[in-house]
Amino acid sequence: MIDIDVSAQTAAMTCTQGDVLFAGLEKALDNGRGFVFVTDAGGKLLGYADLTMMREAFMKGGHLSGQTVGDVAAPWGSAKEPLGVEPVLDGEGRLSGIDESGPQPFLPVSEPDLTHREMRNAFDAFLSTWISSTGDYIRRFEREFAEKMGMAHGVATSNGTVSLHLAMATLGIGEGDEVIVPDLTFAASINTVMHVGARPVLVDVDRDTWCLSAEAVERAITPRTRAIMPVHVFGRPSQMTEIFELAQARGLYIIEDCAEAHGAKYDGQPIGSFSDISSFSFFANKIITTGEGGICLTNDADIATRMRMLRDHGMRPERRYWHEEPGFNFRMTNMQAAIGCAQIERMDELLAMRAAVYDRYVEALSGIPGVSFPPPMDQRAQPVTWFACAQVPEDKRADLIAACKAANIDLRPFFHGLSSMPAYRQYARKCPNSTWLSRTGVNLPTSRRVDDAMVARIAGVFESVLGKKA
Ligand SMILES: Cc1ncc(COP(=O)(O)O)c(C=O)c1O
Repeated sequence: MIDIDVSAQTAAMTCTQGDVLFAGLEKALDNGRGFVFVTDAGGKLLGYADLTMMREAFMKGGHLSGQTVGDVAAPWGSAKEPLGVEPVLDGEGRLSGIDESGPQPFLPVSEPDLTHREMRNAFDAFLSTWISSTGDYIRRFEREFAEKMGMAHGVATSNGTVSLHLAMATLGIGEGDEVIVPDLTFAASINTVMHVGARPVLVDVDRDTWCLSAEAVERAITPRTRAIMPVHVFGRPSQMTEIFELAQARGLYIIEDCAEAHGAKYDGQPIGSFSDISSFSFFANKIITTGEGGICLTNDADIATRMRMLRDHGMRPERRYWHEEPGFNFRMTNMQAAIGCAQIERMDELLAMRAAVYDRYVEALSGIPGVSFPPPMDQRAQPVTWFACAQVPEDKRADLIAACKAANIDLRPFFHGLSSMPAYRQYARKCPNSTWLSRTGVNLPTSRRVDDAMVARIAGVFESVLGKKA
């Protein structure tokens, strides 16, 4: 520890030269900047050590020969790319604070938020040698995630695409069946319907919720409809009570695609708890991540048992190599689950961080000509922030994205409406709301690095293209 009085934020960025490599690695992860300042015992700045330098030392066995953070540090000022944080020094060269107002490294739309907790869990799973799809972390991850979403059973999968596939295969959806899918979603939702041999029926999203409405679903039901797939796009919950009642009345399954909305609620109930089977993704850009990964949740013990069997080649769990039907290998590994267990512990913190980022954007970008934020949802819905979203004038969006790129900031257009793409031409419908959203929507960078200074920088780029704030 350094022995001068620095803020907690500065301390979180700083190691002394004698700190062991793992202290530097953990701090560089935990502070979200990927590097630490290195000082002598009196707090005098010696240089910096980033994750790449420390990883290289670790891979050469530096941790065995007692290498320290000081041994691998480089002089301050030698980095080729901006590190985003400048040291503030007192008259004697001692680190007295940090300054984040200078040039910043590239800011992606999303970054996995990984700390020492995820690292220790992943290391622990590795050292246990249970690196495939059995192990304590798998069972724990399934149990804890299901509990957090208020569901009885969790069946972890290798990603959030195969979890949708598994859900439909388990419910026997296939040839001759129709599944109702919103037009504005990531393509995995529709692809999986096609992969099980069913026919996707595309339905426009509601202009305010950006999701399927119960009325629009009702209009699309035919005698062939077997299931509804509401997608809680960009963290915004669909009207699940109404859709659930409709499905009950019409004898339809619901498969909720919750890939983008972990923790959102409708009528006080977690999304993912309204359906026969709900599906989540844990890809690296999701609210919580396992690298790649997914899960199916259900309250029905028989459905859970069948999902476990189909996930594992259709093999009877109690009779090895006896296959009841041709199943899949859709399993998650214990190493992925280990990362996921740490992320579940941090889920509330991660949701709060994302909500705070969104609030900063609303404060800084509101009033810039042509910029709007998603319409507030009614009291019954509790959305979460996955990627922070805004809408901008259609004719200026490309210029805005280019200006952000020039400023080292990633701004991403919304998904294309599914009906607009050749792959889904035969299912295309007129979907004016989805078309309008897909042409005007942008996803803003959403991560711990998006603090007030960063949002002010992004607001500056927006103003340079769209005009000054009113
Ligand atoms: C709505 C939606 N469904 C499904 C998926 C697929 O998840 P995965 O990438 O884990 O396969 C995603 C992921 O991007 C998604 O956004």
